[in-house]
Amino acid sequence: ISLKPFNTFGIDVKAAYFAEIFKEEDLKSLFQNDITKTQKLLVIGGGSNILFIQDYNGLVIKISISGIKSLAEGNTVKVTAGAGVIWNDFVNYCVEHNFAGAENLSLIPGTVGASPVQNIGAYGVELKDIFHSCNAFEIETGNIKTFNYEDCQFGYRESIFKGELKGRYIITSVTFSLKTEADVNTSYGAIETELQKRGIEKPNIADVSAAVSHIRVSKLPDPTTIGNAGSFFKNPVIEKYEFADVVSNHPDVVHYPTADGKVKLAAGWLIEQCGFKGKVVGNTGTWKNQALVLVNHGNASGTEVFNFSAQIIDSVKSTFGVTLEREVNIL
Ligand code: EPU
Repeated sequence: ISLKPFNTFGIDVKAAYFAEIFKEEDLKSLFQNDITKTQKLLVIGGGSNILFIQDYNGLVIKISISGIKSLAEGNTVKVTAGAGVIWNDFVNYCVEHNFAGAENLSLIPGTVGASPVQNIGAYGVELKDIFHSCNAFEIETGNIKTFNYEDCQFGYRESIFKGELKGRYIITSVTFSLKTEADVNTSYGAIETELQKRGIEKPNIADVSAAVSHIRVSKLPDPTTIGNAGSFFKNPVIEKYEFADVVSNHPDVVHYPTADGKVKLAAGWLIEQCGFKGKVVGNTGTWKNQALVLVNHGNASGTEVFNFSAQIIDSVKSTFGVTLEREVNIL
């Protein structure tokens, strides 16, 4: 089976075996099949954070568990969504019901089940800010385990599901904790600017969602027309003494302090300074409005994109002495 429809980069590779899961119970039956023991496994949601550089010689498990329900308790509301729910459908559900907290995360590609794995984030909010708990199928035992906030060990684009527990659990549903009284976060400069442009002084949840969606559409390529996986690299976090070196040679470097006393650099800025913004190389390149996003202009192979990303890493390293780390999973 071709995996082209199952990865937003639109890379045409094949999987030896493929299964789609619609209910939690389907996982139990699937894992009674020997194939799950003899083959290596790859679990995918929206396929929006993967770059395939070769055929997948194993079993791909696509999670399509649907359903959203909510339970209000005072001025908070718990919303539980199946792992296969499209992330933005969950956000829209919250916006329509006037549940606050998810609106800054509008239009992020992917599924609910994938969202805790790398603690998705945008425009001043991270998944962890609204996360309550998730249920996950333990591959070894077939049991469903509940993970609460602390269990997940969230960090910047990190969680226990990418670290210590990698490959051991399959998330089946996520429960979020939202507010029923609007309490919007417009601290991110680009949102403020967009709301001002629209003449909105007291934004509600829908206003923020609309502003974020507008910013994303104007900056980021739509994966349904131009293959991409969002930010290809993480924004590098460096120590203060390392930053001192960078800033002495590049006084205008875009940077932000982190809560733990380090400095986060804007990878998009570093890449742009190296002359890569909007660059087209064969079938691949960086996006014209956001250098941190690598794109597939047509029939790029995964290797072509990967090699281009290596060229960017080298260039940023030799110009700034900073090593970019890929955020996208390479398979
Ligand atoms: N910048 C440039 N040139 C560029 C791109 C960015 O100079 O080509 C500068 C911008 O001017 C700005 C700064 O870099 O000063 C930050 O840019 P932006 O606001 O676009 O955000 P980002 O740091 O590049 C991160 C996330 C995005 C998220 C945005 C908005 C990561 C790796 N990426 O990007 O997440 O949407 O913030 O909050 O943290 C993703 O993870 O796939 C993703 C799209």
